[in-house]
Amino acid sequence: MFTNIYFVAIVLLTTLTGVSHGAPLNVYAPPLITPAEGAVWIIGTNQTVTWDTSRPPTQITQRNSRLILSKGGRLDVEHPLAKDFDIMDGQHTVTVPILPVGDDYQLILFGDSGNAGPTFSIQAAPSQSSA
Ligand SMILES: *[C@@H]1O[C@H](CO)[C@@H](O)[C@H](O)[C@H]1NC(C)=O
Repeated sequence: MFTNIYFVAIVLLTTLTGVSHGAPLNVYAPPLITPAEGAVWIIGTNQTVTWDTSRPPTQITQRNSRLILSKGGRLDVEHPLAKDFDIMDGQHTVTVPILPVGDDYQLILFGDSGNAGPTFSIQAAPSQSSA
């Protein structure tokens, strides 16, 4: 009887600890640094996305990563901005694709979990809008 209660308590504690961290152990979702909040990306330019790899776990289950764009909270998983790079690279340069302009874009870095970055804008180049 005592053993059972003790066991239940341990299971409960483990569950609560997992919930409080927001993710199970060994899930690695490093925070995006750039594009920073309010940054402007011009269509057709090259931009460097960076993220903080300073505190990796001892074991990363999924190093192969991808960058997904989201506009207004809607993820475009079908067209990754970039894929097949190592999450420990800490940066990746992308060419801004032709997309609807807007100031409600975010990037999500997917490894074994996803982390949404700051909100930024995608705008057309002046020559494109006047052409
Ligand atoms: C962007 O990067 C690609 C691939 O590295 C390169 O071919 C292209 O010339 C670059 N474009 C600009 C505008 O720098």
